Amino acid sequence: MRILVTGGAGYIGSHTCILLVEAGYDIVVFDNFCNASKESILRVDKIVGKTIPLIEGDIRNKEDLTRAFEAYAIDAVIHFAGLKAVGESVEKPLAYYDNNIYGTLILCEVMAAHGCKSIVFSSSATVYGDPHSTPITEDFPLSATNPYGRSKLFIEEMLRDLYVSDSEWQIILLRYFNPIGAHESGTIGEDPNGIPNNLLPFIAQTAIGTRACLSVFGDDYDTVDGTGVRDYIHVMDLADGHVKALDKMHTFSEVMTINLGTGKGYSVLEVLKAFERTSGKNVPYVIAPRRTGDIASCFADPSYAQKILQWRAKRGIEEMCKDSWRWQSSNPNGYKC
Ligand code: NAD
Ligand code: UFG
Repeated sequence: MRILVTGGAGYIGSHTCILLVEAGYDIVVFDNFCNASKESILRVDKIVGKTIPLIEGDIRNKEDLTRAFEAYAIDAVIHFAGLKAVGESVEKPLAYYDNNIYGTLILCEVMAAHGCKSIVFSSSATVYGDPHSTPITEDFPLSATNPYGRSKLFIEEMLRDLYVSDSEWQIILLRYFNPIGAHESGTIGEDPNGIPNNLLPFIAQTAIGTRACLSVFGDDYDTVDGTGVRDYIHVMDLADGHVKALDKMHTFSEVMTINLGTGKGYSVLEVLKAFERTSGKNVPYVIAPRRTGDIASCFADPSYAQKILQWRAKRGIEEMCKDSWRWQSSNPNGYKC
């Protein structure tokens, strides 16, 4: 079975490619490298011991996608490609609607034109907005507080409409919580452009000395120690969720919406301490004002994924931090030499 992996050179995509190949899937990566480097796929090639076919192209470009579908008999798509920075989406909403929504629309058109109607889509816990309680189940009310989140919400709706129009479509919406960590080899990992927005890359860059000090955004939330609580999930567990979703796809007769999280929340200070313990590094921090748009607490009820995919996250916070640090310490400049 041949899988097209859009955004396959990116953080989650590159880790998922490894498990797909190990599970026996043939894959082809499709990426425009707007937020990734070809080096990530070369390193994945080394890990899996074979050359993964790679098509450089943009999901908004019909010709690019058609090239992929004409070169390979593609049975299903895992659709990671998209822009993902919340703050940037507020500054450049049209870029997010164009890349994420229009790009997905074109992808679906080209898929349909080639008789490929199976897609796993990267959604996000952001579609729950500010949840009324935790843990969060898939039937919680949906909302969005920024253009990035709205693009995910709209794509979910678009894919549901597609299924209503044609029940041959097989659609799985995976709502990720907070992916961190890296492949155990330490050769691939998250390589953000510029100053990291997300907690773990910022902590790791502070530990290595690229950043002077972590700002902890708020210590007056109603949480265990006043700092924000999130459901951090090891990227390899997340990758495994995609393989399980593909394995089960043919057994579903509706659009499946599935949380991928661990079910356990950690505060910023708890993550910081876990990172210090596993890396042996001291990470200086200051308490800073709350970040606009942040919520106090967000963690999944992952029981539906367990029931429907027989999947659950296996790695704990220490392993996540250890693997993040192995990647960061062996690649202080990410993929840039
Ligand atoms: P990433 O930026 O590392 O990967 C996205 C990849 O898509 C990159 O390789 C980029 O070059 C590519 N891409 C972007 N626009 C493209 C286009 N128009 N055509 C072709 N390729 C394009 O991000 P990631 O963390 O791996 O996230 C993957 C997906 O998961 C995204 O859709 C993201 O919104 C979603 N997601 C991520 C998180 C997270 O915290 N990382 C959480 C929830 C959901
Ligand atoms: N935080 C800090 N300092 C930092 C960065 C983050 O204190 O320098 C705190 C935040 O305030 C929050 C926690 O660390 O309490 C996690 O923040 P992240 O930016 O790492 O993650 P978010 O939960 O804000 O958002 C992430 C992705 C979103 C996605 C969401 C749910 O960035 O795109 O997870 O999947 F939608």
